[in-house]
Amino acid sequence: MYQEPLPAEYINLSQEEIDSRTRAAKKALGSRLVILGHHYQRDEIIAHADFRGDSYKLAKDAAAVPDAEFIVFCGVHFMAESADILTGPNQKVILPNLAAGCSMADMANLFQVRSAWKQIHEVIGQSTLVPVTYINSAANLKAFVGEHGGTVCTSTNAPTAVAWALEQGDKVFFFPDQHLGRNTGAKLGYDPETEMVVWDPFKPLGGNTPESIQAAKFILWKGHCSVHKRFTIEQIEKARVDYPGIQVLVHPECELEVVNAADLNGSTEFILKAVTNSPAGSKWAIGTEINLVSRLAKEQPDKTIICLDPEICPCSTMYRIHPSFLLWTLENLVAGNLVNQIVVPEKIRADALVALQRMLTVCA
Ligand code: 13P
Ligand code: SF4
Repeated sequence: MYQEPLPAEYINLSQEEIDSRTRAAKKALGSRLVILGHHYQRDEIIAHADFRGDSYKLAKDAAAVPDAEFIVFCGVHFMAESADILTGPNQKVILPNLAAGCSMADMANLFQVRSAWKQIHEVIGQSTLVPVTYINSAANLKAFVGEHGGTVCTSTNAPTAVAWALEQGDKVFFFPDQHLGRNTGAKLGYDPETEMVVWDPFKPLGGNTPESIQAAKFILWKGHCSVHKRFTIEQIEKARVDYPGIQVLVHPECELEVVNAADLNGSTEFILKAVTNSPAGSKWAIGTEINLVSRLAKEQPDKTIICLDPEICPCSTMYRIHPSFLLWTLENLVAGNLVNQIVVPEKIRADALVALQRMLTVCA
């Protein structure tokens, strides 16, 4: 989505000035405002967040503040859309920078998913197919899933959501992250080699034969996260040599081999809790976005906390929520101007809500 450049008065402000004006705007808006911050946001944003969390927690937090008029979502577009779907008609969800998307979510669109759905059904005969979309997807894909008896999942609850889907039908069509899909299937005991195929939206039949689709339990969309693809087995081996006794903890958007080579894997909230609950002196090598890892290291200096990737690995789209954008958003609200509202069209919203509520019920 296109984001207008910030007005000149918001360029080149010092961080101190941004902070004090942000605090003043928050105070002026009082209980009308709730700010949600995803764990990948920079510290200067997290400092002003009323709630911080992973995608699952923030979706629940958004649904749990019915009295807030403005929900400013410091995260990426699909998160703000989910919040809009889960909140009441009088609540306004705002994304401070409309250019904050998710490159993985953009790897699947409705046209492609509908085409895949049709092609798969042409070869699976009487077998039933249940769609599961990762929350990192556009609202119209969540609506597709709601309409076709499936569910949304997050990295927190993917095994529960997928196990539920397999009780509803014979096969799971999982999009857009092949890695979360594969890791989840493997956690549930399915063989990635013989029971999973990858669907490439740019090839006929996704690049598969009818027989391989008939044999598969999981059809995994060929999508990935560019941040989590950077983590490797070599990095894990090096961390274990450099820091004997270190525990390796990665996000399940990493490749299967990386997840298998790690000690633990889980959502960003899981990562936060695992590190926070570990005793002083613990050593952690973490495979996820750098803002979260750096913050954990800063907040818990009694532990050794390093990022698996020695190069900086930020999520460039999360990073687009610059503190100046947050300030601009809030000062506009104080002045009575609603900017950057995220509105999911009504006809998409109803089915998307079915899919999100299914997740919240199944995975409660
Ligand atoms: P979490 O739900 O674990 O925060 O993951 C969201 C995400 O986009 C990770 O890349
Ligand atoms: Fe999307 Fe990856 Fe960024 Fe998460 S880290 S928001 S999956 S691009």
